[in-house]
Amino acid sequence: MIISFLNQKGGVGKTTLSINVAAWLASQGRKVLLVDADKQGSATTWASLRDETPFQVISMARENLAKDVMRLAADFAATVIDGPPHAEGIARACIIASDFVALPIEPSGLSTWASDLTVRQVQEAQAYKETLKCGFVVSRKIGNTVLGREIRTMAADAGIQLLDAEVEQRVAYAESLTMGKTIFEWSPTGTAAKEIMTLTDEIIRHV
Ligand SMILES: Nc1ncnc2c1ncn2[C@@H]1O[C@H](COP(=O)(O)OP(=O)(O)OP(=O)(O)O)[C@@H](O)[C@H]1O
Ligand SMILES: [Mg+2]
Repeated sequence: MIISFLNQKGGVGKTTLSINVAAWLASQGRKVLLVDADKQGSATTWASLRDETPFQVISMARENLAKDVMRLAADFAATVIDGPPHAEGIARACIIASDFVALPIEPSGLSTWASDLTVRQVQEAQAYKETLKCGFVVSRKIGNTVLGREIRTMAADAGIQLLDAEVEQRVAYAESLTMGKTIFEWSPTGTAAKEIMTLTDEIIRHV
């Protein structure tokens, strides 16, 4: 099972979701691999703040990573790929390796995400690989922003499902990441932890 978090846009929550989804998968006794496919190395930096990680973390940010990631993933129950922003070739390789591509999107403001490059890349890949699943994940949602009908329509037009699980803007996500913790270590009974569990369960159901 290879799940990637991808969006060409920076700062939408790819790393935050990758680390915490990997953590939740690992907490249930699975052997989990996190691939840091971003040259910025945010996930690797997070791992370096710790003595040990609840899952294995490797850094691999190159355009020919697909084969190597698939080979490595064979030894793990689940592999999560933290994708890069602004790196078309690497993003394509992540998509090729994946069973499920999660596309975090911020619902606020004027959104063009339904026609963005990453969506087009996923659609292209699906033409070759019918088993490739994907879904938009509402990320960094502010308070009770009502998700307009527009956002559902845009997702439907792109032919990509919008997952039910939503992740709100919560300070606990930023704090835990900065401190080198997972959300489950930082605030195990908090709402953020529940959001990650719900999101992970929904993704797993689709894989
Ligand atoms: N749900 C959230 N609530 C609060 N802060 C968040 C949330 N998601 C992400 N952040 C914060 O926003 C910043 C960007 O998040 P993150 O690094 O996960 O995004 P990214 O998509 O991986 O960015 P990049 O494209 O640069 O790799 C970080 O400081 C992170 O702590
Ligand atoms: Mg990142």
